[in-house]
Amino acid sequence: VSGYKIGPSILNSYLANLGAECLRMLDSGAGYLHLNVSFLHFVPNVTFGHPVVESLQKQLGQDPFFDMHMMVFRPEQWVKPMAVAGANQYTFHLEATENPGTLIKDIRENGMKVGLAIKPGTTVEYLAPWANQIDMALVMTVEPGFGGQKFMEDMIPKVHWLRTQFSSLDIEVDGGVGPDTVHKCAEAGANMIVSGSAIMRSEDPISVISLLRNCWDY
Ligand code: DX5
Repeated sequence: VSGYKIGPSILNSYLANLGAECLRMLDSGAGYLHLNVSFLHFVPNVTFGHPVVESLQKQLGQDPFFDMHMMVFRPEQWVKPMAVAGANQYTFHLEATENPGTLIKDIRENGMKVGLAIKPGTTVEYLAPWANQIDMALVMTVEPGFGGQKFMEDMIPKVHWLRTQFSSLDIEVDGGVGPDTVHKCAEAGANMIVSGSAIMRSEDPISVISLLRNCWDY
C-alpha cells in the first residue's frame, strides 16, 4: 500500500473559500485531499469541475495529492482535462461506465493513478476483476452525493474481503467516517480514510486528523 493517510473531503467545507479550506487541511496534517466532483445524474448534486481543480493546484503550490472522486456518468470525458488541471488520482465509479478496462488504461496514459469506487449497493466481487489493474479501491460507506450522512457499518466486510484478497492495494473508505467509526475501517484493512464533516465542522481539525491517524496504532 502507498501509506496510511487521512484525506479530508471538501464537500462540506466553505466552498466559496475552497483554496483556503484546502490549505487549512494540509496545514492540519491531511495526507491528501479528496475532491468530490459531481455534476447531476449520477448523484443529485453539483460541485465543481477541472477549472476549479486547476486554480486550486496553482494556489496551493505545495504539491498536494488530489484524489478526484468522480461522481459522474461517463467519467471518460474528464480524464484529460483533470490530468491537465493537476489531478493525481482519478477515482471513478464502476457503476458509471460500460468499459472500465479502457478507462483504466486512459487514466494511466494521462499520468494519473487509478481509483475504482463502488456504491453501497454494488457487491465487491464486481470490483475484483479490476483490482490488479488499479491503484486504489474506494468502498463507499454512504450513498455518494452528500456529506454528513450516517456510516454504513455493513460495508465493512467489503473492505475486509478486499484486504484479504489484495494485500498491496490501497483501500479507501468514504462516508460517515469520523473518530467513532474509523477504527472499524482500519481494522478491516483500509489505509486511506476520507472524512468530511467530522474534520470540516470541527473547531480543531489538527486534533481530529491526529485522532483519526491513531486508528492504525493497534
Ligand atoms: C459523499 C462524499 C464524501 C462525503 C464525506 O458523496 O463522497 O466524501 O463528503 O463526508 P462525511 O465524512 O461528512 O460523510
